[in-house]
Amino acid sequence: MLDALTADDAQRRAELEAILFPGDDPWSAQAFRDELRAGHLYLAAREQGVLVGYGGVALLPGRLGQSSEAEIHTIGVDPAHQGRGTGRALLDGLLAAAAGIGATTYLEVRTDNEAALRLYRATGFEVLGTRRRYYASGADAYTMRRLPRSPDRGAPAPDPR
Ligand SMILES: CC(C)(COP(=O)(O)OP(=O)(O)OC[C@H]1O[C@@H](n2cnc3c(N)ncnc32)[C@H](O)[C@@H]1OP(=O)(O)O)[C@@H](O)C(=O)NCCC(=O)NCCS
Repeated sequence: MLDALTADDAQRRAELEAILFPGDDPWSAQAFRDELRAGHLYLAAREQGVLVGYGGVALLPGRLGQSSEAEIHTIGVDPAHQGRGTGRALLDGLLAAAAGIGATTYLEVRTDNEAALRLYRATGFEVLGTRRRYYASGADAYTMRRLPRSPDRGAPAPDPR
């Protein structure tokens, strides 16, 4: 079951972040509150009321004929709860919001993050390029993209160019 992440979750989320992203500038509780204030969509997964996963996306509706874009900002699942479909459910929820505005979705992921890469590839993301030393640890990132899908067949929409 997913619901909205709120400012009350910021402390627990920062604790999870420190476990999940050590050495790569884990976000502080204040940084999360700022993200929520910026209006980005954040989803929470809870078990018996405890936050066990979270994911966030920035939705940028296209204006004046420009296409809409979405940027996955983060997704994380408590290690004790990984491998049970929570990450996939969170990502599906974020992608449903992106689909609602017909957005092309982008994200960055460490090139050595096998679990996340597999999850993203399975949901239709492809590698666009590599950003060298993107993370605080010096690790490289892939930029990945997922094209908007046509609502009837689930296939990528034709390239408008
Ligand atoms: C990536 C992450 C969010 C996945 O969450 P999860 O709840 O464990 O994932 P799910 O159980 O929903 O699995 C979904 C898919 O992810 C992939 N996956 C998950 N764990 C994996 C692992 N240990 N090895 C390889 N693939 C894995 C698989 O494709 C899986 O689908 P499948 O079970 O049909 O093969 C989680 O591993 C995590 O929080 N990692 C640390 C934080 C992180 O790296 N976030 C991404 C930053 S870009």
